[in-house]
Amino acid sequence: MPDLKIVAADGRQRERQSLSEFLASEDEKTLLKVLTCGSVDDGKSTLIGRLLFDCQLIFADQMDALEQDSRRVGSTGGELDLALLVDGLQAEREQGITIDVAYRYFSTPKRKFIVADTPGHEQYTRNMATGASTSDLAILLVDARKGILTQTRRHSCIVSLLGIRHVVLAVNKMDLVDYSEERFEAIADAYTNFARELGIENIVCIPLSALKGENVIQPSSEMQWYHGPSLLAHLETVDVGDNAATLPLRLPVQWINRRNDDFRGYAGTIASGTLRPGDEVALSSSGQTAKISRIVTYDGDLELAAAGDAVTVTLDREIDVSRGDIMAAPDARPKFADQFAAHIIWFSENELLPGRPYILKCGGQLTTVSVSALRYKINVDTLDHVAGRSLALNEVAFCNLSTERPIAFDAYEENRRTGSFILIDKLTNETVGAGMIVYELRRATNIHWQSLDIDKTARATLKNQKPCCLWFTGLSGSGKSTIANVLEKKLHAMGCHTYLLDGDNVRHGLNRDLGFTDADRVENIRRVAETAKLFVDAGLIVMVSFISPFKSERRMARDMFEDEEFVEVWVDTPLEICEKRDAKGLYKKARAGEIKNFTGIDSAYEIPEKADIRLSAGDETPEELVSRLLTLLEFHNKD
Ligand code: ADX
Repeated sequence: MPDLKIVAADGRQRERQSLSEFLASEDEKTLLKVLTCGSVDDGKSTLIGRLLFDCQLIFADQMDALEQDSRRVGSTGGELDLALLVDGLQAEREQGITIDVAYRYFSTPKRKFIVADTPGHEQYTRNMATGASTSDLAILLVDARKGILTQTRRHSCIVSLLGIRHVVLAVNKMDLVDYSEERFEAIADAYTNFARELGIENIVCIPLSALKGENVIQPSSEMQWYHGPSLLAHLETVDVGDNAATLPLRLPVQWINRRNDDFRGYAGTIASGTLRPGDEVALSSSGQTAKISRIVTYDGDLELAAAGDAVTVTLDREIDVSRGDIMAAPDARPKFADQFAAHIIWFSENELLPGRPYILKCGGQLTTVSVSALRYKINVDTLDHVAGRSLALNEVAFCNLSTERPIAFDAYEENRRTGSFILIDKLTNETVGAGMIVYELRRATNIHWQSLDIDKTARATLKNQKPCCLWFTGLSGSGKSTIANVLEKKLHAMGCHTYLLDGDNVRHGLNRDLGFTDADRVENIRRVAETAKLFVDAGLIVMVSFISPFKSERRMARDMFEDEEFVEVWVDTPLEICEKRDAKGLYKKARAGEIKNFTGIDSAYEIPEKADIRLSAGDETPEELVSRLLTLLEFHNKD
């Protein structure tokens, strides 16, 4: 067993302890998960460095590196620069900022700690949400000279949304304000008033100097007027009441273990509650119940398992369990719905657009989701509610969401583990947002699908045709409508029942409330795709002629149909040609700045990657293009 070298504050190696002794003593302590928020300038890295350093948990090799780095890039004139301990990566050090979320572990004789360090730059919401999801307490750092800044308010707002109920306001750099009690009290008062509005229950303000080590570990001799605990003393004693084990049972099934014909185990990590053999559990999706027969682990069967334990359970009878299902206490089941209201924090440079499909991941459950209504945005500086049609990077909103399949969840306030989700971009697979569920919506709960006797096949058979949707996409003036019109005439002459949904026309009726912002275009396409779907269901051959500039919505439209029912037709006419034609005179106006958000000018057209057919409408006549379309369709009319 290797020795653990622990270096004392004066740099000498002081203590040796065997690793097994160390780990055994660590096992018995409670763990406090801390999130730190603040900017580079507030001295956050120095504060964490100070905690690690003064708690004597810097390892010998880290110490060597620290001395070297302090001389090379330190900001303390060659003295030990504690911030360098925390600003882990070389590149970050050289840029003078911390990036991403770093987790540090340290312990004292009373407690052990995991500190999630999140930087205060551009992507702060993403990093905070990552670090905060499991944190018990947040330390918000402010510079005593500057007091509460916009950033402090933003961080507090996110902290409260993320459900962290304990906040420490660390008023740092007190040495630079002559350890003024008055200054500290003014900051503490202002903050307490603000944080109360956010519903943060437990706020403790501590005056300190991370650089000088005042009030970090030891009470400060410079601030005799302060009678509260030092930062560490508070962290060591604060009761955050981790109640996951006392909540109703939630065991999300991560995978099903079929070791052999006789063994079927359901594996997962208990999100909340406790579990014993003999307990009855209910499945979130089907509502079926069964009793736990065994709790199997690598170290043998358990008589009791609790929140945080990774287990495999077997049941006393065969019921249908699938991955993502939640095993729950039958008398306190999670909600199971396909619509709910939630707070969303948006991380992406590409804005969130209501109606656009994203992937929602909630525990092990994955489904397609879209925002059905953006009810209001929250101004994170003032907490005001403001109207909005989309969400930009770092913005927060209260929204209604609608999922393709029902999912099991709890309100975030009741259970952080089963009440939160992330949103993933369908095309790039990036995590673009995080959500906290507030309540379920029951809108569709009592509405069931009616089975109708006359179906799509029956309607199509009568018309003697194969219904389908031909989706024309391309710039304004590319020739979509002209081609679709010629095609419709041909089909009509052949005795086919058709319908042409044209952007300009539909925007006079069904979509007359929509303009040309990205958000409106998404809704425009959503509505016309739903309409086209109804018409295909009616047995018709439907042509949709909309610019439909975004990949995401063209894919959404495609996903609504059976594979062979949807044909994406890209009318690929170069912008120069569309602009030269300019039949409606719109390009001229757009160039003159009279029309905003004009596709191809100051609004994007995302080129189709997987169009079923590309028509080069600059080179061929509409008739030639239509005959190519007819060939592609291998049209069986009245065969
Ligand atoms: S889409 O982008 O939402 O699919 P849609 O096909 O419904 O657009 O409407 C496009 C038509 O609206 C264009 O052919 C043009 O006649 C007209 N139009 C008016 N303003 C704009 C604009 N800003 N951008 C594009 N088209 C516009």
